[in-house]
Amino acid sequence: MTTLSIRNLTKRYGNLTALENFSLEIHSGQFMVLLGPSGCGKTTVLRCIAGLTGITSGEIYIGDELVNKLPPKDRDVAMVFQNYSLYPHMNVYENIAFPLKMRKTERNQIKERVQNIANLLNISNLLNRKPKEISGGQMQRVALGRALVREPKIFLMDEPLSNLDAKLRTDMRVEIKKLQKKVGITTLYITHDQIEAMSMADNIGIMDAGKLLQLDTPQKVYNEPANQFVAGFIGIPPMNFLEFKIVRDKSMFLKLVTGSANEHDNKFMIKVPDVLSASISNTGDETIILGIRPKDITVLRTDEEFDGFKVKGEVTFIELLGDDSIAEVKLGQNSLKISNVASRIDNLIIGKEAIMGIKYSKLYLFKNSGKRMNSSITPSSA
Ligand SMILES: Nc1ncnc2c1ncn2[C@@H]1O[C@H](COP(=O)(O)OP(=O)(O)OP(=O)(O)O)[C@@H](O)[C@H]1O
Ligand SMILES: [Mg+2]
Repeated sequence: MTTLSIRNLTKRYGNLTALENFSLEIHSGQFMVLLGPSGCGKTTVLRCIAGLTGITSGEIYIGDELVNKLPPKDRDVAMVFQNYSLYPHMNVYENIAFPLKMRKTERNQIKERVQNIANLLNISNLLNRKPKEISGGQMQRVALGRALVREPKIFLMDEPLSNLDAKLRTDMRVEIKKLQKKVGITTLYITHDQIEAMSMADNIGIMDAGKLLQLDTPQKVYNEPANQFVAGFIGIPPMNFLEFKIVRDKSMFLKLVTGSANEHDNKFMIKVPDVLSASISNTGDETIILGIRPKDITVLRTDEEFDGFKVKGEVTFIELLGDDSIAEVKLGQNSLKISNVASRIDNLIIGKEAIMGIKYSKLYLFKNSGKRMNSSITPSSA
């Protein structure tokens, strides 16, 4: 069992900074997922750990050993790639056995290890076939087998499921997670698929533009996002964001920035309750961004009581998705997505006004810088 520790890693390709002061600690046996948009530096992190690319500065420890200068073959990490990279001329047995052969493992031992791994991955019946004679999901299993067979200290996986169809991806997600728990190898798994990340990770690191923005459990990144980027990145449909101007009168009001063209139109004003006014006062900013998850907006009937604030807008779209239905409502020049509207569908007519209720406790407040400010407000439940 081994820990993996990355400290202040910076990686530049010429003038492009792919990673900046990136630090990450993965405990022994932990399943860590790095999640972030395309180009944010995820693959670069893996390549640096595996030693496939040099680093500009920083330290990488595998267990207690500083591996910065170790060649890839001496780092004892195994990597699984998106495209599997199986050897086409070798059959499944030879593909899995390959890393052991390279290490001059004894023949009988190779046989035993390959058979054990093949049993574990349910591919014992495919050992004589060539990669082109098996399915995508089976190839993925062979690639996992080849990585696992030599019992590496660290397991690195770069979007290993992205070439599979949706159903197989769901099945393999569960299988990989179970397998990792069974063998207990410290794992760093990369994806840009948030469902994969949420369902597989012990801990998720959210990245953007070469930086780690938040490192937490899946529940925490969802319920307590550190900033607007994380809040908007996790959740389907994404969190709604509205920019409000802070208006200090006798009481405090928020006025939607891109609301009505008419200055005196009060339709897009919210009176700030006492629980929020202190934190809003403290921002020092002139405007504030409110975040609301689509599931936390309730469609109301005319004159229905609601413990929170109400906003009105014009229904522009209703998307019927079977289990769920999503509505889109125009609020000034903004649009809000509302999910789980099936039970209130009668109150939503395209082109007509809808009344929406939002509980204060479900609001996320962000400063202009994107930093989240209201850690004291009860977060919405997952
Ligand atoms: N060998 C290279 N030379 C120059 N720039 C590179 C090289 N490899 C990656 N980059 C750049 O570094 C940045 C990070 O790339 P990286 O491959 O790590 O992103 P990623 O998060 O894995 O993206 P994706 O989700 O699309 O795979 C990108 O801007 C990319 O263009
Ligand atoms: Mg990548």
